[in-house]
Amino acid sequence: MRRLVAILVVLAPALAHAGPMTFMVSHGAAANPITKLGWGLLGLSIFVGAFIALAVLIGIWWKRGAGEYDARGWPVLSHGRNGLPWLWIGVPVSIVLLLLSAIWTFYVLGVATAAPGHPKITVEVIGHQWWWEVRYSEFGYPRRSFETANEIHIPVGVPVELHLTSADVIHSFWVPQLAGKTDTIPGQINHAWIEADKPGIYRGQCAEFCGLQHAHMALYVVAQPVRRFKAWWTHQLQPAADQVTGLAGEGETVFRTRCAICHTARGMPGSQGKLGPDLTHLMSRRTIAAGTLPNTPGNLAAWVSDAPAQKPGVDMPAEDLTGPQLQALLAYLKTLK
Ligand code: CUA
Repeated sequence: MRRLVAILVVLAPALAHAGPMTFMVSHGAAANPITKLGWGLLGLSIFVGAFIALAVLIGIWWKRGAGEYDARGWPVLSHGRNGLPWLWIGVPVSIVLLLLSAIWTFYVLGVATAAPGHPKITVEVIGHQWWWEVRYSEFGYPRRSFETANEIHIPVGVPVELHLTSADVIHSFWVPQLAGKTDTIPGQINHAWIEADKPGIYRGQCAEFCGLQHAHMALYVVAQPVRRFKAWWTHQLQPAADQVTGLAGEGETVFRTRCAICHTARGMPGSQGKLGPDLTHLMSRRTIAAGTLPNTPGNLAAWVSDAPAQKPGVDMPAEDLTGPQLQALLAYLKTLK
């Protein structure tokens, strides 16, 4: 018993704060009702489980008296005396509890999926095997837009509408502390919304098995105060640095001949590849390979020279770069701030 209590004491905070993907705490209006429902149903389940265990124990300990067994020694089923009253209590109680849980669940579903009025910002998120394409665009004319990957920035306290779709197979967009799961389906746009009530970096993950690297299809939502978000937005609208010289200039040539067929560095002529992530502001991102590796020079070198070694099955081929080519390319990528 003492050991059980000790385990529960250790587990309770661990459950509530278990890493960045915990769904037992939430930080936004779209996720809070779901978290409350989760805790409520968990509490109810524990109560019902404990009650049934207690009833079974009482049944075991409560010995029948003399005369309650027949000649063969089998217990006489005494309808009306023992069994039925419990049935009359148990059935309605179960019905009421299940009905209330169902109503609560439907209510939360309605709240979580309803659009939060007129959205201030709409972000398009497109699932790919195995990364997330993210498109921002301004309303108004001329309509300016930019793309990024695996990192969604949002302003704190502002509901952000998401248009979710997929370029290949079905994925599922899930940032547990900000919203419930929504599938991304090819040929269809699903709507969802997220809102963060405090600044922070919230981890998300593809939640629908989508192939070999499903587990390495993560993303981050970076919630910032409005002013910093606007600064980020303005910076992302800028094209890639032009007129790079020296080693980075040589790297630009390597990029144009080896990378640009799949990737875009906005502003660089001949670099409009759409198969892979837009790299215009690669260095502003915290991770590469969809949250798989921290964006450090070493990881970047390993990734551009042999991506399949880091993420087997990935579409990006191993590049047969010479040492000087790799150094030049890395110098160029560093300019994509
Ligand atoms: Cu995408 Cu799992």
